[in-house]
Amino acid sequence: MGKILITGGTGFIGSHTCVELLDKGYEIVVMDNLSNSKFESVKRIEQLTNKTFKFYKVDMLDFNGMCKIFDENKIDSVIHFAGLKAVGESVQKPLEYYNNNIVGTVNLLRVMDRYNCKNMIFSSSATVYGVDNSPPYTEDMTTSATNPYGYTKVMIEQILRDLCIADSDWSVVSLRYFNPIGANKSGLIGEDPNGIPNNLVPYIAQVAIGRLEKLSIYGNDYKTPDGTGVRDYIHVVDLAKGHISALDYAKNHRGFEPINLGTGNGSSVLEVVASYEKACNKKITKRFAPRRAGDLAISYANVQKAKRLLNWEAKYNIDEMCVDSWNFTVKNPKGL
Ligand code: WQD
Repeated sequence: MGKILITGGTGFIGSHTCVELLDKGYEIVVMDNLSNSKFESVKRIEQLTNKTFKFYKVDMLDFNGMCKIFDENKIDSVIHFAGLKAVGESVQKPLEYYNNNIVGTVNLLRVMDRYNCKNMIFSSSATVYGVDNSPPYTEDMTTSATNPYGYTKVMIEQILRDLCIADSDWSVVSLRYFNPIGANKSGLIGEDPNGIPNNLVPYIAQVAIGRLEKLSIYGNDYKTPDGTGVRDYIHVVDLAKGHISALDYAKNHRGFEPINLGTGNGSSVLEVVASYEKACNKKITKRFAPRRAGDLAISYANVQKAKRLLNWEAKYNIDEMCVDSWNFTVKNPKGL
């Protein structure tokens, strides 16, 4: 059996997926440009699994660098996490996002084609449901975006659909993540964003550990039970296990298949704060602030397709996600 190449494998979701793959006995190769993660993740993955693997510090825009990986390793499938993913930053730097995410992904696909590797699990996002659909989101809904980051996911899904139509040997599962949070129960790996976190839970974690002063809650006048935004938070380990199921599915099927990875349940910002306060046994200092541009009131998944096609469903609840996030934060107060 050949190896699995994980692009972006030292990142939050990538590192957790590497652990699950190694624990399942897969042979992996990790490629990352370390622009938004640290080599320390490689050491933590090896420590956690007691397994070693090849790491290549290679950028998706380095065509020859990726060819070298395929020259030196027989790659059966690719799990493609690598990409820039900050919504706000993408509005400021659209060309950087389109170049990195789209040109980079086209490069990767051209290399895969050259080496006859035609199985891909793509890291997509609930963001592709845009603002014109109503939750619970189903995979047959039209996709759109409200920012360059979201458009890169929409466009890459279209590129993958077109590739599968042009060459029926290709098998692509596009996993649409909802809101991944939490950490491996060891506390050795977790969410470790560079700079001030954009996302809710890492921000709460840094308030709880004392790195940030207070949480700003963006809007409490949404049409939701408590007025704050509702999202489908999913434990990153559940998400990682979903990739293993998708890998097996992709090997036995052809064509393009979008699949939601969520819990099917929504939690409000205030509910997440309350859960985190239980986990860390502290009060989180917070204030209500104006709505954040581009935010939806409510977003959560219909998860029937993942159950039907992958025999996968999320197992952890919001309290467990917050306990595991806090455990990682306490063990890594300044990040990795
Ligand atoms: C969640 C809720 C905020 C921060 C984004 C991307 C999505 C995916 C996940 C990459 C919202 C509120 C947040 C804060 C707050 N990323 N919030 N104060 O916006 O649902 O999704 O991250 O794939 O593509 O769009 O996640 O964690 O930023 O926000 O009140 O300091 O928390 O308004 O209601 P989001 P989030």
